[in-house]
Amino acid sequence: MGRTTVLILDYGSQVTQLIARRIREAGVYSEIHPFDVAFERIQALNPRAIILSGGPASVTEENAPTLNPRIFELGVPVLGICYGMQLLCEHFKGSLEHASSREYGATTFYPDHSSPLFAGLDKTSYRVWMSHGDRVLTPPPSFRVIGKTESLPVAAMADDDAKIYAVQFHPEVHHTEEGTAILRNFIFTIAGLTPDWTMQAFCDEEIAKMRREIGDRHVVCALSGGIDSTVVAVLLHKAIGKNLHCIFVDNGLLRANEGEEVISLLRTHFDLNLIHVQAQKRFLERLKDVDDPEKKRKIIGHTFIEIFDEEAKKLPHVDYLAQGTLYPDVIESVSSRGPSAVIKSHHNVGGLPETMNLSLVEPLRELFKDEVRKVAAELGLPEHIIWRQPFPGPGLAIRVLGAVTDERLAILRAADRIVQEEMRATGYYRKVWQGFAVLLPLRTVGVMGDGRTYEHVIALRIVDSVDAMTADWSRLPHDVLARMSSRIINEVHGVNRVVYDISSKPPSTIEWE
Ligand code: XMP
Repeated sequence: MGRTTVLILDYGSQVTQLIARRIREAGVYSEIHPFDVAFERIQALNPRAIILSGGPASVTEENAPTLNPRIFELGVPVLGICYGMQLLCEHFKGSLEHASSREYGATTFYPDHSSPLFAGLDKTSYRVWMSHGDRVLTPPPSFRVIGKTESLPVAAMADDDAKIYAVQFHPEVHHTEEGTAILRNFIFTIAGLTPDWTMQAFCDEEIAKMRREIGDRHVVCALSGGIDSTVVAVLLHKAIGKNLHCIFVDNGLLRANEGEEVISLLRTHFDLNLIHVQAQKRFLERLKDVDDPEKKRKIIGHTFIEIFDEEAKKLPHVDYLAQGTLYPDVIESVSSRGPSAVIKSHHNVGGLPETMNLSLVEPLRELFKDEVRKVAAELGLPEHIIWRQPFPGPGLAIRVLGAVTDERLAILRAADRIVQEEMRATGYYRKVWQGFAVLLPLRTVGVMGDGRTYEHVIALRIVDSVDAMTADWSRLPHDVLARMSSRIINEVHGVNRVVYDISSKPPSTIEWE
């Protein structure tokens, strides 16, 4: 049988991933593949419905991405979105008009209430989000018009008998009113699918699968303290128990208490086989007098691999390396790659499999980040791990600008702890994308009592973002910032000034380095 799957063919839209997320949120598994994926692979997936995404091209231009007509042999419902609609129009011999400029933004859509695609949408009109150049002038002969806007007489069309539907707008984006209801109508009312994608089913299946594949062989896993590697470890532990060997390398660049928290949780609560390597000295010695952030990253990466390798050699024969690769890293189409691909590319564990000749186990490679959080909750991980903000692999080394010393790390850690405490106390911890302190490589003058001081500066970096690709500084209330600042200056010895970073990304970045 296998799980119910919706196939999304990607034509390069920036928001293709959102289609997959909306479908999965509705409880049906979906996968994104490039539009030209081999038909044999499509058959192997056995999709129960197909969605054609939007894309930046024009179907009339040369070398435009095409529609593989064989998908219609499968006899499953098809929904074309934007570029997908134009492809369907062209394929079934309707007529298209090439536009010289794109229509972009919100517009008012009038649905035909008799269409099952718009079942339950009772209002006369809805706000939808458009981003298109070409448009359908006349629908293909077997299609009827099922929606229009002021400027588009054919904004949605359908061949009800063949169960082929198309919309010019993007139902997957939040700005489209009732967009989710439209996608749900497609998969439930039209395709008649059952929602069988739950995180509990995922855990059961994945654990059974890993147990089957790994058998009594041994697996090694690098724990970072973040949610992904923690979830990987707990899932694997449930599958193979003590044959999983977790290695946690304390590089001395973690936040206050972060290492201890993870260790005690996994050891005491989950009873994992865990090796805790105290390598603070080795990292700090190698980072001595290194200012350049790229050099810091390299040193940290190499040292980590070296230690991991040393520890793994002490284990019984190991065949597998477990990694927390997520779905956005494995989607093949470049345009739909998420930011996590970028983040992962400078992740510490890169390079390990080559040196150690291990096969990979990647139990999260089908999941989006929000699904990993649900799995974590399913496994009983505590809130503070589930909602931990992203933390760079090289840790505090890239937030201590200039030389990384024990003394400077201690100052940053103390200031950062106050930022974390205040964000949690005010509820901003989960509202912002990331918030942290940075220690600047300079000193400034201040006054304390009767005396003049010459001490360190802490910068606060707190940003809003959806994916770390772009970010804006968080408009935190002044009194929250004031409290962070006065606490840092009063409680952290050696700091006499706090500044707030008000730059957006781009052109700035989130980390200062
Ligand atoms: P930037 O500074 O590039 O950061 O705007 C974007 C996101 O990536 C994280 N980041 C890293 N993560 N290793 C990581 O694992 C790194 O070397 C690294 N550098 C930046 C950063 O915290 C933010 O979430």
